[in-house]
Amino acid sequence: MSQWELASWREKTALQQPVYPNAEHLSRVEETLGKMPPLVFAGEARQLKKALAQVANGQSFLLQGGDCAESFAEFHANNIRDTFKVMLQMAMVLTYGAKVPVVKVGRMAGQFAKPRSAPTETLDGVELPSYRGDIINDLGFTEASRIPDPKRMLQAYTQAAATLNLLRAFSTGGYADVNQVHAWTLGFTEGEKAQSYRDMANRITDTLDFMKAAGVNNDASHALQTVEFYTSHEGLLLEYEEALTRLDSTSGKWLAGSGHMLWIGDRTRQPDGAHVEFCRGVLNPIGMKCGPTTSAEDLKVLMQRLNPENEEGRLTLIARFGAGKVAEHLPRLVKAVEEEGAKVTWVCDPMHGNTIKSSTGYKTRPFESVLREVQDFFAVHSAEGTIPGGVHFEMTGQDVTECTGGVRAVTDENLSDRYHTACDPRLNASQSLELAFLVAEELSDLRNKRRSRSAEAS
Ligand code: PEP
Ligand code: CO
Repeated sequence: MSQWELASWREKTALQQPVYPNAEHLSRVEETLGKMPPLVFAGEARQLKKALAQVANGQSFLLQGGDCAESFAEFHANNIRDTFKVMLQMAMVLTYGAKVPVVKVGRMAGQFAKPRSAPTETLDGVELPSYRGDIINDLGFTEASRIPDPKRMLQAYTQAAATLNLLRAFSTGGYADVNQVHAWTLGFTEGEKAQSYRDMANRITDTLDFMKAAGVNNDASHALQTVEFYTSHEGLLLEYEEALTRLDSTSGKWLAGSGHMLWIGDRTRQPDGAHVEFCRGVLNPIGMKCGPTTSAEDLKVLMQRLNPENEEGRLTLIARFGAGKVAEHLPRLVKAVEEEGAKVTWVCDPMHGNTIKSSTGYKTRPFESVLREVQDFFAVHSAEGTIPGGVHFEMTGQDVTECTGGVRAVTDENLSDRYHTACDPRLNASQSLELAFLVAEELSDLRNKRRSRSAEAS
């Protein structure tokens, strides 16, 4: 393996990159970004790595979620707040329902660049370059909109900084205080699960009142009044990532300063590719998507490259096979990990293997498939004796109609009502909450099963 350098990815093949028409403009933007403060600090990335090591051991559970693609047009404090609220609600369902601490990681404050299935898109006989996310080009279907523009990186950086600033304020400024557990409910969430949430919130409030009356306060109060919330995104646009990478003076290691955790997408995880090269040299926790085409041999090489010291919490494998395909693919990859004695954190992305075209022409995901993939994921880990560490999903706090199904049944016909995503269909707040209840149930079942097995054995 040759020496890693900040720019060594440039010697490798980088898939899914824009071709900027003006190289000089690109260098100017890179130079400007290079002078900006990093968005996150090395200590925080290390803290997340520790938290993910606990996830790998089954002592905590990872909840990673947010938009498929953040957009410039939808940038608004209310949208950030509502996504944050849903994440808090989901985390509470898991903490209370499955009695497990939850590590919260947003697909936020940097999730702008998108890999695409084809380089061009054709509409009514007109073929244009594909939209690659707001950090690269514009969604509008015109020739000019689709030209990659480097200055969009500066706007993405500014939006990410403002988003992270608000998230930090929400996390520690009183909003995430568990005493607010009722206030996280969004007006439009209704139905059976919303009622279950209200019931649970009542029990939590009751417990808090009891604790106060009993004089339990100071030591526990900090943990109850604030949350640790981390950010993550696909480290796809390598010029942006490189420009925000900084040398951490205490460890002498490099920190990708664009977010706490970066992941490598299913389309850019070639062992000799540029994305793997970039990620292997930064100290952040790294995620990697594993799909049906991930071979056990490649996985072994990738684990070696991305985590040569077999550090706990460094590498998260995000399985995204599609409902009904998990049993075929996950066991062979779990075995490859076990054969190597590799330390990884297993997470389920039940979104990206379940995208279909609806009868009304919209890209959608049937909620039943999303739930089924989560169940399949838990079943495989139960059978293999390994740890299902968390879930990774695309969601929003907005009342959108992008995925079909759920208790407030969205149908193929309803999809057009509030279909706002610039990219993949997201779960709305009700569907997200429903998913959290299912995950809490799966986790509790698995724990009970393991407990009774070890009781039998002793
Ligand atoms: C994504 O997470 O938005 C994505 C494109 O996923 P994948 O790389 O798994 O297809
Ligand atoms: Co997506």
